[in-house]
Amino acid sequence: MGSLTPLQQEIRRLAKENDTVILAHNYQPPEIQAIADYIGDSFGLCQQAQHIEEETILFCGVRFMAETAAILNPTKRVLIPDLKARCPMAAQLPPKLIREAKQKHPDVPVVLYVNTTAEAKAEADVVCTSSNLCTILQALNTNPVIFGPDGNMAEYARHICGYDIIPIPDHGFCHVHVTFSFDPQTLAWKQEHPDAKLLVHPECGWNIQEQADFIGSTGQMLQYARDSSASTFIICTEVDLVTRMQREIPGKQFIPALDYAVCKAMKKLTLEKIKASLVHNQYPVTVAKPVADKARSAIQRMLDLSSPKD
Ligand code: 13P
Ligand code: SF4
Repeated sequence: MGSLTPLQQEIRRLAKENDTVILAHNYQPPEIQAIADYIGDSFGLCQQAQHIEEETILFCGVRFMAETAAILNPTKRVLIPDLKARCPMAAQLPPKLIREAKQKHPDVPVVLYVNTTAEAKAEADVVCTSSNLCTILQALNTNPVIFGPDGNMAEYARHICGYDIIPIPDHGFCHVHVTFSFDPQTLAWKQEHPDAKLLVHPECGWNIQEQADFIGSTGQMLQYARDSSASTFIICTEVDLVTRMQREIPGKQFIPALDYAVCKAMKKLTLEKIKASLVHNQYPVTVAKPVADKARSAIQRMLDLSSPKD
């Protein structure tokens, strides 16, 4: 990772002094990944959040991820350095919509993508991430299931996992990942590099998923790239997973399929805001106990049903 700047060193010192662990998602920029104790995908971050010894968790990601850490650690302080770091897709599924779907389909289980609010998770039977949707569906082994909010992951569930989905809302999406479906450059790379492997996040449209050599979460894509004997990879997800691959896997070529696939919510965080967060204990992420208790059982069910490698 190279040497740290004075600001990065100060952040590390403050984190140690304040008994704080720094968790960061794969979409954080390189300078933030460099000061994290753990970097991972949503599932890895959930697993990590189960075994925290420090008093405080400083979360470098978006709010639903910090909320999940808070739900799993009701006695600890969880901080997010900017309250505006919110995944827009999580706002696409208000709890009311879930309650309506449950009323309409009373015996159908509700599986919710982790990219949802705590209030939405409190309405779910089980949560999933992009790394374990098929594992969760196979464990439930029932058809159909209510699933939301991502419509492209619903397509993944139908085509790859082989389950019938009742989607809520009708067309939920991530605005960063849908762009891969509409820009011809995404698949044009494959013509330029015919031996390259196309790695695709399941939030991308089905027209891109069906061309993929591998579909998976950000952590699974990273692992695939490490293990593969191929030397060139075209990556269909946010650009800072690609910068991590370039940094950590020398000798292989990683091409961001669209170099403008940037999640602005993730980029709300800066080193300056992280330092302010450590100095002023800002901003606490809390979830009301009745909501947290219900959401925790849906999250815990996912953790229980998933294999460690998901
Ligand atoms: P991962 O869990 O695959 O890292 O995905 C999180 C996310 O928000 C994708 O857009
Ligand atoms: Fe949300 Fe999309 Fe950003 Fe992931 S990339 S956090 S789904 S807006």
